[in-house]
Amino acid sequence: EFMNEIKGLSVLEKQIKDKLNIEKVIVVPGNSDHFEWVKQEMGKACVSFLQSVIDSKDIIAVTGGTTMAAVANVMNPLDKTNNYLFVPARGGIGEKVENQANTIVAEMARKAGVNYRLLYAPDPLSESAYQTIINEPSINETLQYIRGATVVLHGIGDAMTMAKRRKTPENVEEELLLRRAITEAFGYYFDAMGNVVYKVRTVGIQLEDLNTIDHVVTIAGGQSKGKAIASYFKQGKSNLLITDEAAAKEILKG
Ligand code: F6P
Repeated sequence: EFMNEIKGLSVLEKQIKDKLNIEKVIVVPGNSDHFEWVKQEMGKACVSFLQSVIDSKDIIAVTGGTTMAAVANVMNPLDKTNNYLFVPARGGIGEKVENQANTIVAEMARKAGVNYRLLYAPDPLSESAYQTIINEPSINETLQYIRGATVVLHGIGDAMTMAKRRKTPENVEEELLLRRAITEAFGYYFDAMGNVVYKVRTVGIQLEDLNTIDHVVTIAGGQSKGKAIASYFKQGKSNLLITDEAAAKEILKG
């Protein structure tokens, strides 16, 4: 029965890979909407993948969210050199402290036994603050590291769920509804075709930057995220999707 289960998941992996046109897909059993351990299983798959690619001098940029926090929970040393580095992918985008990229980066680095850099940017950022902030030496130093990122680990969320979680102003929520936002990643909101319909202003990785990064790893699961994941992959750049069985089945329904 165990072997059947494994075979079932590899069939799902192949189907998702073909349907969303992704280089590599890993599906873990379960539904992370209901069980925290499923997020940790996705985390373990992520750590194994990183162990197979990370070298000295790699810079790993990480986003926030509960899935990334679960990845941090199961982080382990990735390479013998201990010379790689963790950085947040972008400045704050409205998350609670435990789900912020800064917090997650510090935890990942502690578990892996390596260094990290943090980004301190007010959240949300006004246009005038943005210009001042990027020229602030301590922030600029971290931004240089982020610009050199070779690996990105990021989550995906359902657009309106994320807007609510971030206490987004009402007028922005209305705009998201009007423009039919379905999915969110990196502080960008996308419609069903994967077009950007709104963007949270902050420093760090911008969507275009993903094109030149060697390994972009997307980690998102749960039946509730099926549509969000499918929409993100209409245009979003990613080399590896790590998801769960419930999200995979939901994606295949659509
Ligand atoms: O806010 C950071 C972020 O990575 C979002 O870009 C993403 O939509 C969300 O967190 C995912 O959060 P969770 O893993 O808790 O669903």
